[in-house]
Amino acid sequence: MALSAPADPALAGFAVEVLDEVDSTNTELMRRARAGRFEPVLLAARRQTAGRGRLGRQWASAQGDSLTFSIGRVLAPADWSGLSLAVGVSLAENLHPRVRLKWPNDLWVDDRKLGGILIETATFGKAEGGGRYAVVGVGLNIAPRDATGLSTPPAALVELQPAWDASETLRRVAGPLAETLAAFEASGFAPFRSRFQARDALHERRVTLSDGTEGTARGVGEDGALLVHTASGMHAVNSAEVSVRPARGFPLDT
Ligand code: BTN
Repeated sequence: MALSAPADPALAGFAVEVLDEVDSTNTELMRRARAGRFEPVLLAARRQTAGRGRLGRQWASAQGDSLTFSIGRVLAPADWSGLSLAVGVSLAENLHPRVRLKWPNDLWVDDRKLGGILIETATFGKAEGGGRYAVVGVGLNIAPRDATGLSTPPAALVELQPAWDASETLRRVAGPLAETLAAFEASGFAPFRSRFQARDALHERRVTLSDGTEGTARGVGEDGALLVHTASGMHAVNSAEVSVRPARGFPLDT
């Protein structure tokens, strides 16, 4: 299967590039920005040799089984809170009604991970005046992946959209994602909040925070913080470093 570049009027103004191989599309766009290249770009790769996930994890993917791409552009929202949730909403809405969002930015199908989002921002020279350079990286499992060592096999988009390969999936999600970034820059997280809650995989479920506290997930606040009702009251969890897992009886995040 040959990954090809999407043509979508929503990507007007973006350079669209597909590489055979790169270490990581996020790393590549940050490298370019460090070298002074801030032009809006959609960069997809057929193969990543050093894909990265959140919290310093590796993002492993095999050619043809995954869609891996990043969008880079200067963004200057009044408030950055909730950007990764807005990105998740955009992806989920353009993939399938059964795709759910596991706060802060995993895509789930039936409690199995379908994909993830890695957002990185930096301020370099020219980008300073007009905001920060933001790289939004997306990894989606298109076909079943090797599940060795995982307690729960990941989900694959082919279960929901059997006719979509990586190219078709990119064609479906890239334009709307570019529009989402523009909408977020203009209006912040507010227009996405109810849409996130409509797909919230943790809603009303028992969750365990990484400090061991247990509670019940009660949606997200105006800033995208996860609201967790615990024995000591309502907690707004907003640190990207806090991992939230459904409590006993639910599969672990992968
Ligand atoms: C996560 O779930 O931890 C986030 C995974 C993000 C993976 C994507 S693949 C394209 C882009 N390039 C990377 O190195 N990572 C992101």
